[in-house]
Amino acid sequence: MTRSTVSVNINEMSGFVQYYVVIICFFFFLVSSILIPGISSQNLPMDQCVTGFNADNDYFPDKVTVETATMFSINYFKNYKLVTNKQTNEIFALYQCGTPIPTNLPTGAKPIQISVKNVAVTDTSAIPFLELLGLRSAIKLLDTSDLVSSPCIQSAKNSGTITILTNNQTLNDMALAGADVSFGAFEAKPTDQKSISIATASDPGILNRVEWLKFYSTFFNAESKANEVYGKIKTNYECLKNLANKNAKSEKPIVAWIIFDAPSDFNQNTPSWKIADAVFKKQLTEDAGGSYFNATPLSYATSADFLKAIQNVDIVIDETFIGSSIADFYSHFGLTADQQQYKFVKNQAIYREDGTTNPNDGRDWLENAIAMGDASLEDMINVINPQLPKSDYNRIWLRNIAKNEPIKISSATNCTNPDQPLTSKAGECAALSAKGTGAISSTPTFFSCFIAFIFVTFVTLFI
Ligand SMILES: *[C@@H]1O[C@H](CO)[C@@H](O)[C@H](O)[C@H]1NC(C)=O
Ligand SMILES: *[C@@H]1O[C@H](CO)[C@@H](O)[C@H](O)[C@H]1NC(C)=O
Repeated sequence: MTRSTVSVNINEMSGFVQYYVVIICFFFFLVSSILIPGISSQNLPMDQCVTGFNADNDYFPDKVTVETATMFSINYFKNYKLVTNKQTNEIFALYQCGTPIPTNLPTGAKPIQISVKNVAVTDTSAIPFLELLGLRSAIKLLDTSDLVSSPCIQSAKNSGTITILTNNQTLNDMALAGADVSFGAFEAKPTDQKSISIATASDPGILNRVEWLKFYSTFFNAESKANEVYGKIKTNYECLKNLANKNAKSEKPIVAWIIFDAPSDFNQNTPSWKIADAVFKKQLTEDAGGSYFNATPLSYATSADFLKAIQNVDIVIDETFIGSSIADFYSHFGLTADQQQYKFVKNQAIYREDGTTNPNDGRDWLENAIAMGDASLEDMINVINPQLPKSDYNRIWLRNIAKNEPIKISSATNCTNPDQPLTSKAGECAALSAKGTGAISSTPTFFSCFIAFIFVTFVTLFI
């Protein structure tokens, strides 16, 4: 009898608690939707235009802020954004459709109505950025199509959903007339109002390059997605960097990025052997727990002088474009397999960036690896420490040619769902390291409701 009364009381009490939690959470959401503009209003979706223009409205409540990239900038105005490629000094005035074309623009600024819907891509490096933002289907035209590594773009090309530019200028002009913009020019093209120059590969750091996600997003009002994707890659990158450096050996392996420049018409038939120095290679090497090799001079006239310069190197990344076998490598650098005085020969630590290519040797390293900074770091970490980021890790791009690792082919058949946005191929670092992070802070609303629940339970139990 007593027992059943008690149990009825508990049941009543939990119903009572739930009632208050619902009310508290309701008010929480109400207040936050008033205070946090991101919840109450968003940039207009791609397929919508403004009706009833009001010059006082901020039409872009979702914004991006450039954190580390140095080659572009973004300034927001009420109904337009000024997006600048700082390498080419090209300025794009992206104005919301349904609102007036902005006046008093900086000289040479190209007015472009957004959101753009049909885009041409003339440099394959643009592809993963658009795919990561969930904008794959906006790609309607391609230029250098033979080199595309993206499985779903190869598939769309095969099925005719994407038009390929040819060398017939008349046909190309017709095709381009249907595109809103064309991403990928290396130089400013002041007379071509649709040409958007891109400087991703010149932005020095790994995360600088990844941040170009934000540049692309502005054309589609996809800032919120860009913040999400960039934030995730950045967090993962920092976590992987920590993991690698916590586990770094006291004597860090020395890594040299090298290239053989074969005699050709471009160099008066004079070969040279070079250290391929670049900021992003230094970052990748150091963040992976390695020591970056740098030398003066960077270029040598004989392979003997070059080998002398790199004699203490532990690991080499061979960036020579042509010649993918270990035999090619030895021949290019004047080496043989029994020259064990070189540690990279003795320890079989010779890598190339062609671990994933399309069937025509189109390098995924020049496509996905640029946008997926965290996954590139994972590959490099594994080169330096084969136990990391986990012992059964499979490198995506960096292929050990001394160990005859095979090339993975990326073809149309690898496209499983063309409607699914691409995600970085990196594993989640937080799951690999000892402590998980971010689960609570990434869901503030649930966390707050959880606190509310504890509070109500406390109050109900003790009053
Ligand atoms: C280019 O295509 C157009 C339209 O099909 C055709 O009339 C023209 O002859 C072509 N030009 C060349 C150089 O093939
Ligand atoms: C594509 O699929 C084939 C067949 O399943 C597989 O062997 C290959 O590794 C895949 N390519 C990539 C890049 O994952």
